[in-house]
Amino acid sequence: MSSETVLVVGGTGELGRPVARQLLADGYVVRLLTRNARRARALMGPEFEYFAGDIGDSAAIEQALHGCADVHISLRGGSSGPEELDRVEHRGTARVAELAARQGVSRLTYLSGMLVSEDAEIPGDRAKFRAERAIQRSGVPYTIFKPTYFMETLPRHVQGKLAIVLGRQPHPLHMVAANDFARMVSGAFRTPEAANRSFFVHGPEAITIPDALRLYCSLVEPGKRVVSMPLWFMRVVDTLFMRRRLRGTLQLMRAMQRVGERGDSSAADVVLGAPTTTLRQWCGQRAL
Ligand SMILES: NC(=O)c1ccc[n+]([C@@H]2O[C@H](COP(=O)([O-])OP(=O)(O)OC[C@H]3O[C@@H](n4cnc5c(N)ncnc54)[C@H](OP(=O)(O)O)[C@@H]3O)[C@@H](O)[C@H]2O)c1
Repeated sequence: MSSETVLVVGGTGELGRPVARQLLADGYVVRLLTRNARRARALMGPEFEYFAGDIGDSAAIEQALHGCADVHISLRGGSSGPEELDRVEHRGTARVAELAARQGVSRLTYLSGMLVSEDAEIPGDRAKFRAERAIQRSGVPYTIFKPTYFMETLPRHVQGKLAIVLGRQPHPLHMVAANDFARMVSGAFRTPEAANRSFFVHGPEAITIPDALRLYCSLVEPGKRVVSMPLWFMRVVDTLFMRRRLRGTLQLMRAMQRVGERGDSSAADVVLGAPTTTLRQWCGQRAL
């Protein structure tokens, strides 16, 4: 147990919430930086400390960081184009890392992605690459996480009576549960061997997105039909009818269909303990 204070940036998000809650359960005082503190408090409850501010606001970040031993960053740059992605994901992360260095933070953890590289197909992954570089240059001891597909993404495929697979998605992925990931992030703060490392994170079993959706629908959302939509068709639909809201998702799905899963998770499994939740168990928890 710890009574240190951790700042979670993006702690109100789908993948930030389990980390914030795990840190609280592990005895940390947990601070959340959010653009809307009232909405965040209604979502997360009174056990957390709330600091209002955008990731572009250095004064707000400095205030939120004051007295923190550790920081976790779990941002999503939005879907409003490469400029905003770079502002939030890259420059926002770089700003937090730089200010954390000045305040002598002992560990900064960052949610990156398995396809993140300098020449990644997706603008968000290129922005994350620049963010990783900024963290590494900041001098703050870091742990960068590069997880595969999260099980928490499966419900986003369901639209009305359909569970939609974008493209064919033939590659098996070791899908991971956010609660397992949260345990690894919290553990990283107490594990000296996790300092200045990047870890790929994989769940215990490999399954394709279409098969995972069939299992998810059978156990959690019965009556939904799993269908595949060609990527070219969805690009046309997105351009004509959806104001390109799906652009980022379609880019991700095209990259995943081409590349499949990347990385070797054995180092993370040894240092932080391997994720254990199977998709069937995860669905069982959702169906309760
Ligand atoms: N889904 C997957 O399978 C997968 C796999 C690997 C990596 N990832 C990565 O995981 C990351 C997080 O995903 P998620 O699903 O948790 O995203 P999310 O639910 O959209 O949450 C995004 C978080 O970012 C914060 N945020 C956004 N813009 C901000 C700004 N300008 N200033 C301050 N805070 C801001 C939001 O806080 P407020 O709204 O409270 O301000 C929110 O807490 C993404 O970058 C994604 O690429 C996802």
